[in-house]
Amino acid sequence: MKLFHLAVPFSLLLISLASFRDVPKPERIRPTIAADTVKIDPESGLIADPNLMMVKAQCTSCHSTKLIIQHRFTRAGWTERIRWMQKYHKLWNLGEAEKPVLDYLSTHYGPVPAKAQGRRAPLQNVKWYTL
Ligand code: HEC
Repeated sequence: MKLFHLAVPFSLLLISLASFRDVPKPERIRPTIAADTVKIDPESGLIADPNLMMVKAQCTSCHSTKLIIQHRFTRAGWTERIRWMQKYHKLWNLGEAEKPVLDYLSTHYGPVPAKAQGRRAPLQNVKWYTL
C-alpha cells in the first residue's frame, strides 16, 4: 500500500529533524580571535588567558559563564554592565581586579570585527537599471 511505503522515509525524516534540533549554533559563540588560535578553559567554557583566573574569581559565583560568552561589549560596555550589576545585583567593588577583568573581557569578548562576521563587503559601483 502506498501509505506504508511513505511511512519509512517519513519517519526517517522526522528522526533526522529531531536530532538536528538541539545542535548549538557555533557562530553565536564565536570568539573575537580566530577560532584555531583560541584555547578554551574546559571548566568555565571561557577563552584561556592569564587573566582568566581573575574573571573566574569575580564573575562565576552568581551566574553561569554563558552570560559572559553570549555577549560582546566594548571596554566601556563591559564597565557599564559591571556598574549595572553593582547597582542592582549586589556585585561587589572589584578593586584592583577590575583592570585585568576588563582587559580580559574587552580582548576576548569585544565586538566582532565586521570582517569576521562572514558577510561580504558592500557592493561597489552597482549599475542599477530602471524597470
Ligand atoms: C553578585 C552576583 C554577580 C556577580 C559576582 C556577577 N554578576 Fe553578572 N549578573 C548578575 C545578575 C543577577 C545578572 C542578571 C541575570 C539575569 O538577568 O538573569 C547578571 C547579568 C550579567 C550579564 C548579562 C547582562 C545583560 O545585559 O543581560 C553579564 C554579561 C554579566 N552578568 C557578566 C558578569 C561579569 C563579567 C562578572 C564579573 C565581573 C559578573 N557578571 C559577576 C549578578 C552577578
